[in-house]
Amino acid sequence: MKITVIGAGNVGATTAQLLANAELANEIYLVDVLEGIPQGKGLDMYESMPILESDARIFGTNEYDVTRDSDIVIQTAGLARKPGMSRDDLLIKNAEIVSSCIENAFKYSPNAHYIIVSNPLDVMTYVALKVTGLPKHKVVGMAGILDTARFRSFISMEIGCSMQDISAQILGGHGDTMVPLPRFTTVAGIPVTDLISKERMDAICDRAAKGGGEIVAHLKTGSAYYAPAAAAVQMVESIVKDQKRIFPCSVLLNGEYGFNDVVVGVPVKLGKNCIEQIIELKLNEDEKALLANSATHVQATIKEAMELIKK
Ligand code: 2OP
Repeated sequence: MKITVIGAGNVGATTAQLLANAELANEIYLVDVLEGIPQGKGLDMYESMPILESDARIFGTNEYDVTRDSDIVIQTAGLARKPGMSRDDLLIKNAEIVSSCIENAFKYSPNAHYIIVSNPLDVMTYVALKVTGLPKHKVVGMAGILDTARFRSFISMEIGCSMQDISAQILGGHGDTMVPLPRFTTVAGIPVTDLISKERMDAICDRAAKGGGEIVAHLKTGSAYYAPAAAAVQMVESIVKDQKRIFPCSVLLNGEYGFNDVVVGVPVKLGKNCIEQIIELKLNEDEKALLANSATHVQATIKEAMELIKK
């Protein structure tokens, strides 16, 4: 297994480290345009492997040719938010960065599965699909695992139970319009709506939807990276081990949920072929309206991005 992580910043480096610790690949390439940073971080991680009892080898590089024939490519490079910014504010710069990184990686790894982490997430996943021309099942955006992990953390804080017993759903774009779904969220099989009042649940949903911004407000110089990296690695694990786990991920919809040519988060099955199934939940009218609002917002940003790329 050979995995390339593009971007040696906080998200990229943490992703590479978690992949290596879990020995999910024998070779991990950490690519960045900055000279010395991927080499230094890569070698430092390599040297931690004897202690961590993993035989994963991490190589830092500024070149893409050494990433040739990667099985999985994870795109993390791009600007991160600062306080007061929305993920969409990153559009112009990150559309440029993501299309150039993915073009370079695809030249050497046309058969890889691509996991997109750069923001605005759904739009960048669409950009990667267009740049590569890959079929939709091979390009997937990481957002839903992160958003539901925040939702699960807050539910666990509320009722004082194990986070592991909480199974949650969030649909839609990775932004303020995302749609947490209490009706599809359970604690050890018990509907969360039986355990938490509507008023408290609304507050928890709101905190989860704004969870990325909460971290940015604390950090001031950037955005979250521990949870985003852990989420990307959980996707890799399901693909590498062919676990066929079902996670909310950002995927191109062509007819599913009644949407066309838009990338948003929905539950999918992740296995050795990457996206093996898109699962359609039976939503009620309110949930459908919230998802439509989110998809419409993402669609408008996709249009803007595609015009920028053409220029
Ligand atoms: C987040 O939600 C960075 O978008 C990422 O924290």
